[in-house]
Amino acid sequence: MTEEWHNFLFTDEDVLLLTYPKSGTHWMVEILCLIRFKGDPKWIQSVPIWDRSPWLETNKGFKVLKDQKGPRFMSSHLPIQFMPKSFSNAKVKVIYVIRNPKDVIVSGHLFWKGVKYVQGAESMEQYFDWFLQGNVPYGSWFDHIHGWMPRRDQENFLLLSYEELKRDTRSSVQKICQFLGMELRPEALDSVLENSSFQAMKDNKMSNYSLMDGIAIDLKTTTMMRKGVCGDWKNHLTVAQAETFDEIYQEKMKDLPSELFPWE
Ligand code: A3P
Repeated sequence: MTEEWHNFLFTDEDVLLLTYPKSGTHWMVEILCLIRFKGDPKWIQSVPIWDRSPWLETNKGFKVLKDQKGPRFMSSHLPIQFMPKSFSNAKVKVIYVIRNPKDVIVSGHLFWKGVKYVQGAESMEQYFDWFLQGNVPYGSWFDHIHGWMPRRDQENFLLLSYEELKRDTRSSVQKICQFLGMELRPEALDSVLENSSFQAMKDNKMSNYSLMDGIAIDLKTTTMMRKGVCGDWKNHLTVAQAETFDEIYQEKMKDLPSELFPWE
């Protein structure tokens, strides 16, 4: 990262979406964009998702963000220690989305293997080992969570889970609106839900990465909108892998309150 990047200035109006990869980032971007325009889908249907909420850590995203005026949306997968210097004193609104790490493993393996510039694993078994070692894009899931969780009680930090979003999308969207200080009429809320549904996003070429096919991603081997459910790990991980994971999870997560994490 350049000096200029490290000196990036956040403003109090910025909204920064933070996730460990494959935790529901794009779903949240779609929801945020729809909330901003009170449910009107014009923006999400005309501008690629990576331009609506640029990636802070990419050259392309950074270039857009540094010159952008007014309230900005931005996305990042960065562990906390890699944030630009101004982050620690900024009042930027942070939305941190977490997801059952076993689903993150499955989603990650099936996704990265079709992404250019990322070495895909040959099997779920291999990816599972890499994940436990933190030898995957953005490093250890456990470290990511431990880095960000101490912020969870700050007023400019909203912690949400993919599971909660799936269980009750309407209430989750209302919670996000409250956090952002926005109010939506019932019809606008309905439109947010309808236009950010899995199927709507799968069909939206501005959000489904078909514009990047053959450039950054190979949609013959992967997809951004794969299944969109909770608990798919049961169809992909062996019983032994699940047990190994649970044991490591218990040990590594014992310092954090288990009620923060709504998965079994
Ligand atoms: P699966 O691979 O389990 O299907 P990210 O955006 O962080 O890369 O996360 C991708 C995961 O979010 C994928 O999970 C994808 O299908 C899921 N997802 C994307 N949009 C969704 C939506 N509207 N509803 C539910 N899940 C969604």
